[in-house]
Amino acid sequence: MTTELNAKQRVANHAANLIEDGMIVGLGTGSTANYFIEALAARQQQGLDCVTVASSVVSTMKAQSLGLPQISIEQLNGIDVYVDGADEVSPDMTLLKGRGSDLVREKLLARASQTFYVLVDDSKMVAKIGQNYAIPVEVMPFAWQLVQQNLQALGGTGQLRPNAAGDGLAVTSHGSLVLDMTFESYPDASTLNTVLNDIPGVVEHGIFVDLASAVFVASDGAEVIERWR
Ligand code: A5P
Repeated sequence: MTTELNAKQRVANHAANLIEDGMIVGLGTGSTANYFIEALAARQQQGLDCVTVASSVVSTMKAQSLGLPQISIEQLNGIDVYVDGADEVSPDMTLLKGRGSDLVREKLLARASQTFYVLVDDSKMVAKIGQNYAIPVEVMPFAWQLVQQNLQALGGTGQLRPNAAGDGLAVTSHGSLVLDMTFESYPDASTLNTVLNDIPGVVEHGIFVDLASAVFVASDGAEVIERWR
């Protein structure tokens, strides 16, 4: 019996097939990254010799359960490849990430990598960052109101992200809060990236500019398309 793979599984398998012996591989976070971890573990079972470093506790646990060798971020000078999903990808390969709570490690690993493969199904391709999702801005807890005021002065609207139960606030793996912001208009994602980087109290945000090396896109039932920078 053959099982039809969904689009996320197919891009994940595609990326796993590009991993080579001796590589240090960064593991992203999310449902697509989980498929990649499974595909990488399957390759390791067949003899692939690689070491992984995870972007979250969840990915650490997933890799651990599948027997993938791991090292910690503290031990790194750099990594060969980072593989992660995204919430949005614009035509210039700018990404929006951060629906989860692990933005800091995700961006650290993306920046530390020689090559960053982004895995998406075609629903994630957008004309402009912020088209379908608010932009997550991770803030120091005591700074959230001042940051929110700064962002409102830039034309942003948004609130602190609630927790999953809806009875409190979402807290990231680093103990930060998250402002989910929408902007009626902004010049371009690269400019917004620079502006957000410059606001005191902002720990990290979900716009990833000039970090993706390649985006692998699939629709259900169609071939994986590679788009390189
Ligand atoms: C995690 O913080 C996020 O950046 C995810 O990488 C992103 O939300 C994509 O998630 P899925 O792979 O679950 O769609």
